Formats: sequence, structure tokens, C-alpha cells
Amino acid sequence: MSERQLVVGIDVGTTKVCTLVAAVEDATTPLEIVGIGLSQSRGLRRGVVVDRQDTIASVRDSVQEAERMAEVDIHEAFVGISGDHIASTNVSARVNVAGSEVAQEDVERVLQSARDSVVLPPDREIVYVAARGYTLDGVKDIARPVSMTGAVLDVEAHIVTGMTSVMANVARCVEEAGIRILRRVLEPIATSTAVVTDAERELGVILVDIGGGTTDIAAFLDGSIAFTSSIAIAGEHVTRDLARVLRTSMEEAESIKRKWALAVPERVSDEEMIQIVLAGTNARERVSRRLAGEIARCRVEETLKMVQEELRRAGIYRQVNGGVVLSGGGSQLPGITQVATDVFDGLPVRIGLPRGLRGLSETVATPAHATAVGLVTLAATDQAFISGPPEVVGLSGLPKRILDWLGGVQERMTRRTARR
Ligand SMILES: Nc1ncnc2c1ncn2[C@@H]1O[C@H](COP(=O)(O)OP(=O)(O)OP(=O)(O)O)[C@@H](O)[C@H]1O
Ligand SMILES: [Mg+2]
Repeated sequence: MSERQLVVGIDVGTTKVCTLVAAVEDATTPLEIVGIGLSQSRGLRRGVVVDRQDTIASVRDSVQEAERMAEVDIHEAFVGISGDHIASTNVSARVNVAGSEVAQEDVERVLQSARDSVVLPPDREIVYVAARGYTLDGVKDIARPVSMTGAVLDVEAHIVTGMTSVMANVARCVEEAGIRILRRVLEPIATSTAVVTDAERELGVILVDIGGGTTDIAAFLDGSIAFTSSIAIAGEHVTRDLARVLRTSMEEAESIKRKWALAVPERVSDEEMIQIVLAGTNARERVSRRLAGEIARCRVEETLKMVQEELRRAGIYRQVNGGVVLSGGGSQLPGITQVATDVFDGLPVRIGLPRGLRGLSETVATPAHATAVGLVTLAATDQAFISGPPEVVGLSGLPKRILDWLGGVQERMTRRTARR
């Protein structure tokens, strides 16, 4: 791929819509961010559309800003999907190999068989399928079985489902804002692509993307995705708690949170006071800064415990050795890594920032933009794929140069990422 191509990702979040335009040069050159558009998200709650017109307008504003900056017209994009309707399961499936050698069709058949084994209620659909590993005639951990000799092919697959209507509502808003959706991508997968390393995936890692209305979870074991989920508690709950307890407006509470809240309140002197404006009046009151921290910590701790509980229920919590990566705007709360270390029994915790990009890399190097960076990264891979050499076909046979480029990320992801 010698010509520079542009790819677009739109993260329709609960608090902001972030549109990124990235230039793809070749497989070895990092992506260059050439446009970014941010608008306040007005029509979503907990990742779900509650006001169509507001959502369409927010998407339009964000896209237009990115268009102006990149000096291009945007017609199509990769778009994130999230929300607490997302659920995941791991299944296994088996097929007899048609010839003596595994063909691409056999791989596709076994993945289809894995999909078919999931019992879907009428209001849900499959949004993501990843092969966690293949077994050929009893030999496990085969990454790419195509062209290998064997008779029985098994797959362990990770399958994510979501509510059709909820996802369709987000999609329709994006389309009505004038954007054709090339691919819907699960947000925890997108965020992981931007901030989780291969080494962490091998050791076992938990990604926690704390947004405004949703906290997305992705857990990787032995290099592949093992669990995906989303819970409807996040940064806005911290703000709401502050507003309720301190009796301020949501705006004032948001500002208190960003300026003063420290999730390890014991590090603040109990004599340190902050001035707050009470709701509905201009009256000011002095409250202890430590109190703001206590309130924030309480909610963050509860959220992280819910994440831990989900992982426990899925039976994978104890298998994670690599640590925890926090991302999303909510991870910017000072002291949050300490809270996470305590909740996750001393596992290493770090904040995941998208790095290694060119162009406006400073602007996007914040955890709040990790999802959008992941979307353009996946879009770039897909573009490379489309214009790649002809032997590049099917679900799992990505060319080496792309694998190298993504640091092997795609090796463990199938091309069926949330096809429309
Ligand atoms: N410095 C900060 N300290 C604490 N919280 C912060 C800070 N900066 C941003 N946040 C919080 O981050 C949250 C927004 O995060 P983000 O932009 O990742 O959400 P989103 O992607 O729009 O929402 P979602 O992923 O839930 O749909 C808000 O609740 C905001 O208060
Ligand atoms: Mg988000």
C-alpha cells in the first residue's frame, strides 16, 4: 500500500462524540492523526440513545469539526458500540476437515458452527467472534490452522452478543448524520487495541474503560480475548454522588471532581477546605476537600468491585497475572490506580494512554480518546487488508506485515469483528 489513505473512527460516547481522521501510509509507519472532532454527547445515557435528534446533532458536530481540521469530507467510518446490553460467552465447536489439509473454508465452517451453537433470543445478535485457539487432531494452541494436515478441527471461540434494537438506534443516528458505517466495533475491543500490549495479553490482563455512563471490560488470557462486558456505572455516577452529597449542580460537581477529588482522600489534610457553589443559589460553602475524595473513592471502588465480580463469575479473575489497564476519561481521577490496586488484590495497575501515533498525537494521548484511537487503528488494518495482496483472504490469514504492524493484535482477532 503505497498511497496514503484516510480512515475514520467515531466513538459515540455518553459524554462526548469523538471523531478521528487518520492517515495510513504503509504497514510500518505509525498512523498519523490529521483530524479530531469533539462534541458534547447530548442524546445518550449509559451508552443507549435516549434522544435521537440530540444524538444525530452531536455526531454531526463532531464529524464537521474533524472534517474542518483534516480538510476532507467524511462519508464513512468505523463506529464503536457499547452499553450494558453487551454479553460474552466462550464456546467450542468441531468440524471434520474436508480434505487432508485444512482449508480456509474449514476454518470458516468451524467458526460458523461456533456461532450457531450460541442460543440467541430474538432481540439479540452476535456482534463479535474471535477464535481463541484451534486444535487440530487433538493438538492444541494452533494459531493458524490453514494448510496444516489433519482430519478434525476444533475451535475455542469468544462470542459477544448485543441487543439488536439498542445497536440499531446508535447506528441509525450515525447514518442520519450522513455517515455510512463500514464496521461496528465493540468498544472494549477498540480500546484494548489502542492501549493493551501483547505482553500483557499473554500474561493475562484486564482492561477497564471507565467512561461517562459505561464501564467497559475486556479480559485477555494466553494472548486472546476471554471476556467482554459493559456495566452501566461510570464517571457520571461519581459526579452525581458529589452533586447529591455536596448539594451542588452537576456542572459544579464535575468541576469539583476534576479540580479537587483525590481517590486516596487520606493523602489530603482534613483541614484543607474547598469552596463550592450550592445548587440553585449563588451561595458558597466551604467543605473539606477530603470529603470530595471520599465520595469519589466510594463510587470508584464500587465500580471496580463490580468489574472484579463479573470476572469472578466468568471464572477468569484468578488467571489474570499481567495486571489491570485503566482507560477512559474516568481513569483520570487522581489516585484511582491505588484504589484499583487495592480492589484487584495487588495486581499491577496502569493508566492506558494511546501512544505511538504521529500528527496530533499529543491531543489524542489521553485515556478518553483511547476508544477512538482503537477504532482508527482497526480501520487502518482493514484498509491495509482490503488493498493487500490477493492471498489475503478469509478470517484469520492476515499478512505478516500487518501482524507486525499491529504487534500481533490482529493475529488473535477474526475478520468478523462486528460485521453489519
Ligand atoms: N480529570 C478527571 N478526573 C476525573 N474524572 C474525569 C476527568 N476528566 C474526565 N473525567 C470523567 O470522564 C468521564 C468521561 O469519560 P469518557 O470521555 O471516556 O466517556 P465517554 O466515552 O463519553 O462515555 P462512555 O464510554 O460511557 O459512553 C466523565 O464522567 C468525566 O467526568
Ligand atoms: Mg467511552
